[in-house]
Amino acid sequence: MGRIAVLDSGGQYCHLIARKVRELGVYAEIFPVGVDPSRLRDHAGIILSGGPSSVFDDASPQPQAGLFELAKPMLGICYGHQLIGRYLGGTVERGDTHEFGSATLQLRAAGVLFEGLSSEQQVWMSHGDHVARPPEGFSILADTEECAVAAMGHETLRVYGLQFHPEVVHTYNGSTILGNFLRNACGCAMDWQPQNRVRALLRQINDTAGDRRVLLFLSGGVDSTVAYALVVRALGPERVEAVYVDTGFMRDRETDEIEGAFRELDLGKLRVFQAADLFMGRLQGVADPETKRAIIGQAFVDVQDQILRDDRYAGQDWMLGQGTIYPDTIESGGTHAADVIKTHHNRVERIQELLDQGRVLEPLSEFYKDEVREIGRALGLPNRLIERHPFPGPGLAIRCICAAAAEDAVPARRIAAIAERAGYSAFLLPLRSVGVQGDSRSYAQLTVLHGGDIEFSRLLPLSTAITNEFRQTNRVVACLAPREIDPSQWGIRPATLTPERVGLLQRVDRAVTDYLRQEGLYDQVWQCPVVLLPWGQGDGETVALRPVVSVDGMTASVAQLPTPGLLALADHLLSLDSVDAVVYDVSHKPPSTIEWE
Ligand code: XMP
Repeated sequence: MGRIAVLDSGGQYCHLIARKVRELGVYAEIFPVGVDPSRLRDHAGIILSGGPSSVFDDASPQPQAGLFELAKPMLGICYGHQLIGRYLGGTVERGDTHEFGSATLQLRAAGVLFEGLSSEQQVWMSHGDHVARPPEGFSILADTEECAVAAMGHETLRVYGLQFHPEVVHTYNGSTILGNFLRNACGCAMDWQPQNRVRALLRQINDTAGDRRVLLFLSGGVDSTVAYALVVRALGPERVEAVYVDTGFMRDRETDEIEGAFRELDLGKLRVFQAADLFMGRLQGVADPETKRAIIGQAFVDVQDQILRDDRYAGQDWMLGQGTIYPDTIESGGTHAADVIKTHHNRVERIQELLDQGRVLEPLSEFYKDEVREIGRALGLPNRLIERHPFPGPGLAIRCICAAAAEDAVPARRIAAIAERAGYSAFLLPLRSVGVQGDSRSYAQLTVLHGGDIEFSRLLPLSTAITNEFRQTNRVVACLAPREIDPSQWGIRPATLTPERVGLLQRVDRAVTDYLRQEGLYDQVWQCPVVLLPWGQGDGETVALRPVVSVDGMTASVAQLPTPGLLALADHLLSLDSVDAVVYDVSHKPPSTIEWE
């Protein structure tokens, strides 16, 4: 089959690389860059990812020297390119400045990597250090105005280095370059497909479970549904039990819908466990997002413990089944070098303990979301379940933003000046949300744009310009209704999770979902979180709409919904009790995450 090892030096992009390689039909798996080279003997090729470090830092991630003795085809990207330069005897220099953004690549030599491409290519750069002189035997394959060794290669060794990032969409022919490496340098057949993995997955589940039973916590989302269907298919319904924990943070009527769908599918036993009071009780008075996530994670584990004390499990050897997918393990720092973007609830300490004891079954942990959908289809699950928008485990709890103290908007003269040039007014709100900037987690303020028309062609570049230039903000919203706001009359008020706030969010979320379905927009949007912000006049709240387009949730762009319908929807939401404003999130991921917390 031919598989590729992607060696992780701590960049978020590492996972985009793996994702792209799989899309090209070659199975890719991620290892820390310092992996024991003997584990890579059977791989057809190695890709060294980019990363946030400098090769000059003592603590920077380094490969073991034996890696280069494997004599495998190798492609270094950005930091990986510099590692190849350094380890094979070239010269790497520290950059005085950062080169960041699009650049024009000029091809200087023919080679297998750029086969089929014209001599000028648009590529995306993000680096400080650079290779000044390639190692002996290497040719310079391409340069840019700023970068003399933008691509280098040794055709006999089949080792290549790229200073730019072929894995991001801004490198227009990045997939062709990666495909050339896989086909021409590594000799891969390019025929891997997730749906063909079902048989092997069933075997794996059987091997891992042995004669144990599996208890699986089902959220009704794609991941846990597909995981459940797989485990039932592998072990038979009598050895699998699914429990759906109603945390109270589910969507409106979600529990009934899920119960109905599973009964209809005849997938096995599904038990609903009511835990709304427990979750809400523990979250009383908590405003900090990471604390909220940790409490929710712990509450899940405690509910599990409580369920497992049930006589029905007494004396049984059991395992916990989870629908964890690849990005969940990555963004929580599951691979050793990636920064912790968010603490995913299925990686809290207690579950980690069970994992260490080999008592957790995660059949989808190697797959990305779109691959999970393919597997679901191969299992014959109906589209209605498979195409549901992803919904995070902690549910509406992380979409109901809390604030510890009352605060006012912050005037932001320089941001306002940039916004004004694009026809908007702007101010900063000290209501912070999570983002992912330059490979690490950020927790920064919100920029509010108002006063202008909702024109995405102006809003999106403006949003990017603001978050690129000002580190104190990582997210930008535009006011849909009212269109203009006097920030001095509005305020952030202290707020935590209450049944009233969650109830309001459920009603708003229902109205938005109904709208998307009625307008035929549901399937055009990858996900549309609806977020409640404790910002308004008096006790009023603001609703933020966050429709995004994505392939796997790792990166996402703003979905540009038709404006007239959007404004009508906003007016409708404004007519609901306690809603003072409706805003539209106009930030891509990165720099913002999809969820706000
Ligand atoms: P972010 O917000 O990190 O989200 O851009 C990427 C995708 O992951 C989902 N998400 C979660 N899913 N538990 C989950 O099961 C979580 O704690 C969690 N946090 C984010 C998010 O909805 C999006 O699809």
